[in-house]
Amino acid sequence: MAVIPWPLRPVPHGVPPAVEVTAASAWALMRTRRTVLPKRLVAPGPSAAELSAILDAAAHAPDHGQLQPWRFVLVPEAARAALAEVFAQALAERDATATADQLALAREKAYRAPVLLLAVVDAGRGDPRIDLAERLVSAGCALQNMLLMATAQGYGSALTSGRALKAAGLRALFRLGAQEQALCFLSIGTVQARKAAARARPATASYVSTLGADGVVLPFESAEKRV
Ligand SMILES: Cc1cc2nc3c(=O)[nH]c(=O)nc-3n(C[C@H](O)[C@H](O)[C@H](O)COP(=O)(O)O)c2cc1C
Repeated sequence: MAVIPWPLRPVPHGVPPAVEVTAASAWALMRTRRTVLPKRLVAPGPSAAELSAILDAAAHAPDHGQLQPWRFVLVPEAARAALAEVFAQALAERDATATADQLALAREKAYRAPVLLLAVVDAGRGDPRIDLAERLVSAGCALQNMLLMATAQGYGSALTSGRALKAAGLRALFRLGAQEQALCFLSIGTVQARKAAARARPATASYVSTLGADGVVLPFESAEKRV
């Protein structure tokens, strides 16, 4: 696992953090993560200890009311054939004209990436005042923790969705409860190839604004402009 340096700095309010992390190391990790699609993720995948760290990372997501509104289902090699049939069946159901090649491609997707997990969110578990939106935010945070941990370990990773997530066959295979939804797959493995150019990131001002005292929403100004 890559070692992130933790230089010491003064502890605010006398509350010692569990570990020391620098903004620079956190930023480096976040910038390093990028989607590597499952077709480019090959063996070796994370070791048992590395996978355990990835799974533990999910538990550090914020979770209003500690509902634990999400869960993950590992899909090991032995279960890939069953998933492949679900993918093919889902395609056949939504497109009766799907060719043998298209069905084979749908099946093949189940065999990509050494580690494959299904993320599931539960809209019904626990306090009903905590709505689905909050539960999805918590699930997204858990997923991001896992992606970042896999990145720190040196693996590529991706979230993928697709129409099969809503298929009755997939719900049955994963024994989803009536109030559960399959959110996306998380794939992890060694990067075989990656696109040379990283995605251009949106400018802060395109997604941040400031609420003015008079209620008018003002465009965001960078810190340099504000001081
Ligand atoms: C819930 C979710 C589902 C996604 N599903 C797919 C997918 O089915 N196919 C795909 O190519 N990318 C999928 N993505 C990945 C995005 O395309 C990717 O995050 C985006 O292109 C930004 O690239 P980056 O992850 O490298 O920042 C998904 C992302 C999320 C959050």
